[in-house]
Parts: sequence; structure tokens; C-alpha cells
Amino acid sequence: MKRVLVTGASGMLGSELMLRAPSGTTAIGTDLRADAPVDVPGIDLADESGVAALFASRGPFTGVIHGAAFTAVDLAEEKESEARRANEDAARVIATHCARLSIPLVVVSTDFVFDGAGTRPYREDDATRPLSAYGRTKLAGEKAAVAAHPNGTRIVRTQWLYGPRGKHFPGTILKLASERSELKVVHDQVGAPTSTLELAPALWDVLARGEAGIYHAACAGQASWYEFARATLELSGVKGVTVLPCSTAEFPRPAVRPRYSVLDCSRLAALRGRTLAPWRAALAQFIESQNS
Ligand SMILES: NC(=O)c1ccc[n+]([C@@H]2O[C@H](COP(=O)([O-])OP(=O)(O)OC[C@H]3O[C@@H](n4cnc5c(N)ncnc54)[C@H](OP(=O)(O)O)[C@@H]3O)[C@@H](O)[C@H]2O)c1
Repeated sequence: MKRVLVTGASGMLGSELMLRAPSGTTAIGTDLRADAPVDVPGIDLADESGVAALFASRGPFTGVIHGAAFTAVDLAEEKESEARRANEDAARVIATHCARLSIPLVVVSTDFVFDGAGTRPYREDDATRPLSAYGRTKLAGEKAAVAAHPNGTRIVRTQWLYGPRGKHFPGTILKLASERSELKVVHDQVGAPTSTLELAPALWDVLARGEAGIYHAACAGQASWYEFARATLELSGVKGVTVLPCSTAEFPRPAVRPRYSVLDCSRLAALRGRTLAPWRAALAQFIESQNS
């Protein structure tokens, strides 16, 4: 039986990872909050001694999927050192333990490592240039993990996540649509909405079969937030709400987002023999699962 440590296990992605552990694998979940509903709550992964105790008491692990992160993108602008602790230091600590044990590590990362000036889907080896504190600290986490465990680290960059648990864009849009008859949504940022229902099995595959290196993982196709919002309402059967496109400039936020961050996921598709589902089909499946 394999024993895999999943960090951020009560988060939006981590909770799906816990449910999707392949047969023959026991997932052991950990998270920061002392009351998190996971196997080992209350562990700050940036704290060396706490992580050493976790590996000693709950190991031996045969692999780790590191999904924990400081994910509040705008808040990270004013709390960059806190974000760096979670996104860089924790990745280094985890990777150091994985290197010591020679076990594979998947580190979940983000499209925010790119500046969004590209005009074709970003490949794994394209130049990085984060525009935000979140992007900078996540990129630093990628580098720290690879430096600590070069032969065993798989970086998986993803984007625009939503899923059955946690706070996400479709949930926000449905809530706003229940309160207003008109919504304005940004149309000049383009990416790929990605369901955790699609991503979680892919991460398990990368852990089991992927080589060390970088993978991009997002649902197929591309959309703006405006198109994502319209599809959410349409597929949910919400009528009578007008969605209007607007520009990023009309909704200034503390953190600068990449304008275009579609990811080229062919390396992952080659590993798995298929792409993740097209984003609209994945969204339809998610909405159906929420209603059943
Ligand atoms: N959401 C997206 O659209 C998106 C896009 C691209 C990449 N990603 C990446 O995907 C991964 C999962 O994202 P998510 O949206 O599922 O995140 P999430 O729901 O915010 O979950 C992250 C979890 O990590 C925990 N955590 C934070 N700092 C920690 C620390 N120092 N030690 C231990 N645990 C800590 C958080 O605990 P608290 O809640 O108690 O702080 C939280 O439970 C992250 O690596 C993120 O960067 C997400």
C-alpha cells in the first residue's frame, strides 16, 4: 500500500485530492488550521521541526502532493513575507524531506508565474516573470523545491480553479446573480477555467508516472472571465440576468493579473494519453454534480 501525504488537504483542491486517491494508495491529509477536518491538522509546513515530527510520526510516506499555499492573491500584496513563508519556505521544507527519503513530490503551482504578455499558450520552459507577490512567492517555491529535490520534484502549474468545496468564481457569480439583475465581468483576461474534478486525478497520475520537471495542467480551451460567467449562468439555468463585458481597468485590484495565461498542456496530455476535459464540458459536469 502506498502512503501519500497531501498538504492543504482541507482546501479547494486538496479536499478533492483526498477523495480521488487511487486504489492501493492511502492519502494522509494535513493542513494549517488546528480544526481542519484532516488526518493531521495544525501543521505549519514552513516550520521545520513540525514537519520533521509529521514525517516521523505519520510516515513512512511513498510520495507527497503539496497543495498548501497562501492563495489570497490580493492580500499577498500587503503580506508578501507571510505569503513567502507559505509558498516558498514550506515548499523547501517539504522538498528537503522528500529528497532525504528519495520519494516523488508534486508541487502545485500557478499561471501567475507568467506576465501574460504572450500570444500563444505558455509552454513549461517559457520565461517566467510574475507580476504579483503571489506569483513571485509561488515561483520562488518552485525553484526552492527543485533545488532541494532536483530528481524527484514535479511542478504542476494550473489556473482558474473551482470545485465542490471552497470559494470560487462560479459560486461568486451565482450568488451575485441571485442578488442583481446585471453583472459586469472582466473580458480582457484570458485563461482556462479548470475544475478540481478534472485536475485532481491528473495530479495523482503525475505523482505515479510523471518524470521530474514541469507540467502545465488546465482544462482544454480558453475563455475570458466574462465568458466563464456567462457559461456558469447558462449551464445553471439562470435566466433574466444580464452579463456585460468590462475591462480590467474598470475593476482595479491590488494584485496585477496576467492578461493572457492559457497553458500549453501537451506534456501532461502525452503522459496521460488525453487532455483534461474542455472547460465548458467540465463546468457542465461540475454544475450537474452540485445539483444532484
Ligand atoms: N485557486 C486557484 O485558482 C489556483 C490557481 C492556480 C494554482 N493554484 C494552486 O493550487 C493549490 C491549491 O489551491 P486552492 O485554491 O485549493 O487553495 P486553498 O483552498 O486556499 O487551500 C490551501 C490550503 O493551504 C493551507 N496553508 C496555507 N499556508 C499553510 C502553511 N504554512 N502550512 C500548512 N498549510 C498551509 C491553507 O490553510 P488556511 O486556509 O488555514 O490558510 C489552505 O487550507 C495552491 O498551491 C495554489 O497556489 C490555485
